[in-house]
Amino acid sequence: MTFDRSHAVLPDGYHHRRLTADDRDALLDLDTWAFPDPHSVAEFGELPLPLTWERTVGVEHEDAAGGGLAAIHASYAFSRFPVPGATLPTAGLTWVGVHPQHRRRGLLTAMIDHHLEECRQRGEALSALFAAEAAIYGRFGYGKAADDLRLTVPRGAALRDVPGADEHTVRVEHADRARHGELVARLHRAPGLPSGGTPNRPGWATRESDALWESYWADPKAFRAGGRESLRVVVVERDGEPRGYATFRRTMDWQVTGPRGTVHLGDVVALDAAAARALWGVLLDLDLMSSTDPFLLPVDDAVMSLLVDPRAAGARITDNVWVRVVDVRAALAGRRYQSDVDLVLGVTDHRLPDNAGSWRLRAAAFGEATCERTDAAPDLELDVRELGAAYLGGTSLAALAAAGLVAEHSPWALARAAAAFGWPLAPACGWVF
Ligand SMILES: CC(C)(COP(=O)(O)OP(=O)(O)OC[C@H]1O[C@@H](n2cnc3c(N)ncnc32)[C@H](O)[C@@H]1OP(=O)(O)O)[C@@H](O)C(=O)NCCC(=O)NCCS
Repeated sequence: MTFDRSHAVLPDGYHHRRLTADDRDALLDLDTWAFPDPHSVAEFGELPLPLTWERTVGVEHEDAAGGGLAAIHASYAFSRFPVPGATLPTAGLTWVGVHPQHRRRGLLTAMIDHHLEECRQRGEALSALFAAEAAIYGRFGYGKAADDLRLTVPRGAALRDVPGADEHTVRVEHADRARHGELVARLHRAPGLPSGGTPNRPGWATRESDALWESYWADPKAFRAGGRESLRVVVVERDGEPRGYATFRRTMDWQVTGPRGTVHLGDVVALDAAAARALWGVLLDLDLMSSTDPFLLPVDDAVMSLLVDPRAAGARITDNVWVRVVDVRAALAGRRYQSDVDLVLGVTDHRLPDNAGSWRLRAAAFGEATCERTDAAPDLELDVRELGAAYLGGTSLAALAAAGLVAEHSPWALARAAAAFGWPLAPACGWVF
């Protein structure tokens, strides 16, 4: 694969440098310039850093005083990022920031090209991210690949019964790495279809480094927003085996009409329907609370079918993971499809020209796929951004075509592709990386 370096050039006076532990304060300072925060660099310095230095890159300016940085970016190594029916090595792009003094001079553009080049060198077929602002990343070939739900579920909301739910025992405890670390790590990477043995929900990245877990479990009081209590956990067990857990923090609000506290949820993981029913039964009925607010739920989370009155939860949808296909051949051959498919896709990619051109994709439903270059005329044409949007199975190619973003050149090609690229589980990542 070659890489078109024409974009990756930084403006005069700037250069990339891989950062080291000595750059920690400069990194934190830059991060708080990009993302305003009341905490000082010294206070941030007390938190474990979730990053690994070999994947953390700065942009320096020759005039930046005191060794200061003009921009930073980093990535997490997701060696087993779930895609439909499989996992693929993926870079989780993160900590992207440009100092306000250096913005709109092309530093982000050059950093993205640097990042994509490194992805290729490391054999990562995908780059994924959460976007601080949704308008930023489309230009770089990232497509909105997943949505998630924000809910406000009234306390005591009625849930449908699930046989076996009442066979669970419940533990409600202070969250503690020594006590819960192993079960949280194990259950978090488990959720798939209830039948078991099927691969995980697409997009459901789990923390793969100790640095990320340390950061997850760190819970200093100074960083608890809005009067939230320390981190708590509910674990539901059946026959002594953990089958689900949720992390939460409560806030109190005393009104003349009575207490109106809120349960703020973190992870919510259940291995089957009975465990989900048992878990939600606890989460929706905590004393002194008036609502439970989940964060980052997949749009098809079990709770939406368990709730007798889902409308009352006031669902809002927002963008979750964005995906950039870095290597079309590896990405398309590296996932499975939910119906037979034999199509030629014409792809445009202005940043990674090796991705551009016609690709013949062949697969049997839920079987392995092949993707090869071809001279044949495309059945469908789309940009790599739309390929990223459709890749995890959460955005229909037909919906993208309805917006003029996918062109159909042969009968039924769009319907066949849209059906094949879908997936039984909606994609989502349960935490912001
Ligand atoms: C977003 C950010 C990284 C952009 O960096 P930058 O160096 O100014 O970006 P560039 O100069 O390379 O801009 C490239 C293009 O993206 C556009 N762009 C940049 N930021 C944008 C934004 N927030 N919304 C819409 N477009 C944006 C630019 O206008 C430019 O467009 P053009 O090519 O048509 O001229 C920077 O403003 C920043 O650090 N913001 C605060 C932190 C943040 O949001 N980080 C992203 C975390 S996911």
